[in-house]
Amino acid sequence: MAGPCGNIKPDPAMQGNSRAVSSSQQGCHEQLEAVVRKHLAEPTRRPPAAHTRQAFEAISQRVERSGRPLVFDSFCGTGMSTALLAARHPDSLVIGIDKSAHRLGKHGPPTGDNYLLIQAECGDFWRLSQAAGWRPARHYLLYPNPWPKPGQLKRRVHGSADFSALLALGGDIELRSNWQVYVEEFRQALALAGFRADSELFTAAQPLTLFERKYAGSGHQLWRCRCQLGHNTRPRAAEHQTR
Ligand SMILES: C[S@@+](CC[C@H](N)C(=O)[O-])C[C@H]1O[C@@H](n2cnc3c(N)ncnc32)[C@H](O)[C@@H]1O
Repeated sequence: MAGPCGNIKPDPAMQGNSRAVSSSQQGCHEQLEAVVRKHLAEPTRRPPAAHTRQAFEAISQRVERSGRPLVFDSFCGTGMSTALLAARHPDSLVIGIDKSAHRLGKHGPPTGDNYLLIQAECGDFWRLSQAAGWRPARHYLLYPNPWPKPGQLKRRVHGSADFSALLALGGDIELRSNWQVYVEEFRQALALAGFRADSELFTAAQPLTLFERKYAGSGHQLWRCRCQLGHNTRPRAAEHQTR
């Protein structure tokens, strides 16, 4: 498929026979508040994985020289959303981040010059970005893995030790999921951190991601949470250059 989706070939497995998320957890996790408060009070000191540091360093000059507002597309999968967001925000530099070389490898030739895809762990990438002073104007988290078992709370974005780094980056964030519990937990975690956020059912008229297309085609309800964290939209180095 040519166009602003990054030349992705249609994958029959992504067409629309997906099962809805099933979990024994029907509402927000009973440990949510304790886990979020602990992570907010004690941000992780875990050093970033070497491969993520290398990936970060490989793009840092380009990012800092661009002087453009940044858009992060975390958990970008094949980067379909990254290419679409780049077309939607032509003055920005959009960075798609995913840990899977296999998924990223399906992207095909770039369809624009204002986005890039990197293979990295999102949490480590966020902390490196935070330390470098990068402040995305917008941050999309589209269909992160739901980790629906109650024992998997800490694998969810808001239950992970990386949540405070996500917040520190600032910007307008939008998280989407086909599991309402995930989105409501994310909203509540933001509230625990002092941010007002809205969550809602929405319709994806034009799917932004392959998973969104698959879920919509399977008749799933789609939920999103949006929040303005506040921000400083340019990387710190670019600011220095313009003074
Ligand atoms: C359900 S898929 C969604 C992909 C894409 N956003 C979409 O909607 O089509 C979740 C993606 O998150 C990626 N992922 C999971 N954990 C990650 C992590 N810690 N860092 C980076 N990517 C991760 C997986 O490789 C996968 O591509």
